[in-house]
Amino acid sequence: MNVYDSERMTDVLRPLGYEAVDAPDRADMIILNTCHIRDRAAEKVFSELGRLRLVKEARAQAGQQTVLAVAGCVAQAEGREILARAPYVDIVLGPQTYHRLPEMVARAARAAGAVIETDFPVEQKFDFLPPEREVPEGGAAFLTIQEGCDKFCSFCVVPYTRGAEASRPVAAVLEEARRLVAHGVREITLLGQNVNAYHGEGPDGATWDLARLATELARHVGVERIRYTTSHPRDMGDDLIAAHRDLPALMPFLHLPVQSGSDRVLAAMNRGHTAQEYRDLVARLRAARPDLALSSDFIVGHPGETDEDFEQTMQLIRDIGFAQAYSFKYSPRPGTPASNAGAQVPEDVKDARLQRLQALLREQQDAFNAASVGQRVDVLFTGRGRKPGQISGKSPYLQAVHVEGPDSLIGQVAEVEIVKLHTNSLGGVLTGETDRA
Ligand code: 5AD
Ligand code: SF4
Repeated sequence: MNVYDSERMTDVLRPLGYEAVDAPDRADMIILNTCHIRDRAAEKVFSELGRLRLVKEARAQAGQQTVLAVAGCVAQAEGREILARAPYVDIVLGPQTYHRLPEMVARAARAAGAVIETDFPVEQKFDFLPPEREVPEGGAAFLTIQEGCDKFCSFCVVPYTRGAEASRPVAAVLEEARRLVAHGVREITLLGQNVNAYHGEGPDGATWDLARLATELARHVGVERIRYTTSHPRDMGDDLIAAHRDLPALMPFLHLPVQSGSDRVLAAMNRGHTAQEYRDLVARLRAARPDLALSSDFIVGHPGETDEDFEQTMQLIRDIGFAQAYSFKYSPRPGTPASNAGAQVPEDVKDARLQRLQALLREQQDAFNAASVGQRVDVLFTGRGRKPGQISGKSPYLQAVHVEGPDSLIGQVAEVEIVKLHTNSLGGVLTGETDRA
């Protein structure tokens, strides 16, 4: 979502004459777009700011002004602290205020002190973003359809930094999607902190859910490939499960965070479901789309997690089998309920658990990728590969695939036979079957 938001900030600033440059020392304005989800992400902001201060000072000596802005959820949560620790920052803006960037830039030019915008505006920021967006090359684009979260998991800052759940109206989503498709986009990833809780106001006055939106995008807007992320198990409705059966455009890969396999921990996390309910949900999804590849998020060492709880997480992973996953040590976030719960798990215990968990997930990921060797898959080529003459893209299961091939295939879907397994990607050869050019 931050990649998408950064692109939108560029769009908002373009009419003012700004364009992206490739190095901070060439920039009249530097925006650091930040993530607050775990402590390490926030700490990185401060070390990066230290480096950018030097850039700003060097430019000042050469007579050039630099506006330094911090955007995103660290700005939202720690705006005052940023200005105290890094007084050379000119603008602090939370994720709900990007549409007001031009005004903030003007104010920063006039003001003596820093400009700080971290309110949750009553208006929806969706309505204020410029309709014209730069269409990314490579045939794949993100599209935010939902923001915020009302779930209040015990460990998570998102409800506080991104605010309450809000869905973008259907008409606005369809319009943006149509424009992307008209510019050659073949794959759209629908984004939201709780994307499957989407409930957008439809042009017919009814509320549309994600299943209905995806169906419209596939059948009437002509989006060839649709993905969506991130989903909550609780919001995985029957219609959306059925859409995985009925819509070939809906890619057979689903990121469905479970966090833990222990009912005790799931309850402490306020996730609103049990491990068995997650297993049942996955079974229903696989019945609808047998080749569905699953991805998830895991947290080890949530306050109160015992060895037994952790073993239950390992068992859930073995039972389900994930194609890919993200896993983290629990990181206390100030202001969240879990951060001042007793029974914090010692760091070395978290380390040991994370290591075992990641080894198991790695094994599953390798096995999943190894099973692709010899298969033929449709790859959307999104860019050049690392080696000359190579192009790379994504399989339906979101695996990175490289082949020897012409640049003219970038932005196109072509069939590939997978021939080789690399650490984090697959090597293949073009079979010569190319989708309409
Ligand atoms: N500590 C560790 N991991 C966290 N996540 C969210 N908050 C925390 C935290 N406080 C993880 C969850 C979530 C993912 C985006 O980040 O697994 O799904
Ligand atoms: Fe955070 Fe996701 Fe839970 Fe919302 S559902 S509070 S974003 S972990």
